[in-house]
Amino acid sequence: MPVNISQPVRPKPFLKWAGGKTQLLPEIQDILERKFSNDSAWTYIEPFVGGGAVLFHVLDRFPGIERAVINDINPELVAAYRAMKDNIVATTASLMSLEKAYNDCPTKEEKKSFYCNQRKEFNRLKLSPDSLVSSPHFSQVALFIFLNKTCFNGLYRVNRKGEFNVPFGDRKSLKICDRENLLRGSECLQKVTIELGDFEEMLKYAGKDVLYYIDPPYKPLNATSSFTAYTQEDFSDRDQFRVKAFCDRIHESGGYFILSNSDVVETDKHPSFFDELYASYTIKRVRAKRQINCKAEGRGSISELLITNIG
Ligand SMILES: C[S@@+](CC[C@H](N)C(=O)[O-])C[C@H]1O[C@@H](n2cnc3c(N)ncnc32)[C@H](O)[C@@H]1O
Repeated sequence: MPVNISQPVRPKPFLKWAGGKTQLLPEIQDILERKFSNDSAWTYIEPFVGGGAVLFHVLDRFPGIERAVINDINPELVAAYRAMKDNIVATTASLMSLEKAYNDCPTKEEKKSFYCNQRKEFNRLKLSPDSLVSSPHFSQVALFIFLNKTCFNGLYRVNRKGEFNVPFGDRKSLKICDRENLLRGSECLQKVTIELGDFEEMLKYAGKDVLYYIDPPYKPLNATSSFTAYTQEDFSDRDQFRVKAFCDRIHESGGYFILSNSDVVETDKHPSFFDELYASYTIKRVRAKRQINCKAEGRGSISELLITNIG
């Protein structure tokens, strides 16, 4: 008789985030397997964690990972990871009550008005970035996850005053609180150190048996596809050069990196930008569906780059 051994839930990102890397996971896994087996001991660092598609995949598939560190410049996002790690029960309970109140709104108009009120409340509660991250309040984090699930396309955008201003998403059926996934994600995060700041600060962890997965805001393919404004500051070409210097330092320390970025070959004023910049490393082009574009026709397939020092 077949024995029914239930498999643990595969953890998925608990937020929808611009630039999510779910589509690139098979290619990234291929590169990782050239260096690490399921049980080898290594350190995983993700300096631009965003939604963490690669993080959760890697923590699940490589249980030998001894240590992991994630970082982002977005304080609300970092607070969400901290609450997921340290305060999952209260965060989930708070999110479930928001979900119930939202689902109880009988009409689209009432749902929209509920969303707008929660957005107002989120902006009212906003504390200074430091206090938000050092002691994230679970109800505020639940509000952040709720807004992420119900806003337009899971975008995170703020105005000049730092207020979240994404419109209502009007999606038909959606699961706001996926309790099983939240609990599994929280379990994975127990071995993860969560930091807030600029990516360069992650160099303090560089060394042998350390792998960095680097996913900076993309170099825009054209003026209208610019979705690099995750915070009030844009990510410029100067920052792309900083990322290159960061990769060089990792390489010199004896560690490894995998970097993803947009393929600007057909669109940029400077089409060989990344080919020239990373000429001494391995560059692979991968087809992926474009995710963030307001107009459906702008969502076709594009080529993305995976750049690594793993041969
Ligand atoms: C392309 S997204 C990462 C996507 C992520 N890999 C995923 O799968 O969802 C880039 C992230 O970099 C963060 N970021 C932007 N500038 C940064 C900086 N200077 N240092 C660290 N993080 C930064 C943004 O807040 C954003 O979450």
